[in-house]
Amino acid sequence: MPAKRSTTIPAARSATRTAASDTSRRAASTTRRPARSRTRAASSDGAARTVTSQPWLHQKGVVIQEFGTVRQFPIGLSYDARMYSCQRLNQTLADTQILYALYKKHHWLMRGATFYQLHLLLDKHAGEQLELVDQIAERIQTLGGVAVGDPRHVAEITRIPRAPDGVEEVPAMLSRLLEAHEMILADAHDAAARTADMGDDGSNDLLVSDVIRTGEMEAWFLAEHLVDTPLVQA
Ligand SMILES: [Fe+2]
Repeated sequence: MPAKRSTTIPAARSATRTAASDTSRRAASTTRRPARSRTRAASSDGAARTVTSQPWLHQKGVVIQEFGTVRQFPIGLSYDARMYSCQRLNQTLADTQILYALYKKHHWLMRGATFYQLHLLLDKHAGEQLELVDQIAERIQTLGGVAVGDPRHVAEITRIPRAPDGVEEVPAMLSRLLEAHEMILADAHDAAARTADMGDDGSNDLLVSDVIRTGEMEAWFLAEHLVDTPLVQA
């Protein structure tokens, strides 16, 4: 935090600083360290102090909470319950992020006579999955855990098979989405039951009311596009 690192310098030293020295110091500081002072100001107690609006750039730090751990939060749930829920929810979170990405990929790559309808439908589902991603991640944080966020970390955790980089036929795209849904739903049913057994009603509610309800509805809409029915003549 810049404010904490700002130091007070004697007024005389500050006053003798020249414009030239400020310029050279500014040039040197933009890569590593911000200029120490720009303006002299008075604190509420009348003491001289220096202020700067230069951000502290290129900072590095230590990891302050490891992935796979939970902090102690006073929410009436045991350490074991919170730890278990975070583990299950991180699996759902990783799979849901992949499902969101698959929806976007297929929204972009859609082909054929039903392009417009499916292009719009898949984007709607992508938006709903993205909302779930945020809800699941914030539930993990609420439990004191660490939500998986980096896509490369997500790829290590998810069990949803990777799609080809190229373009699949339309029914194959829809089938791939359905299979991803079923994988998430099957795991969510089990996780919902087990988190409820552990006393974590909030995670159970999220899994049932949001993950399962949304996934089931989206799977229905996808599945109906895979019914081979005549368009005009019976
Ligand atoms: Fe779009």
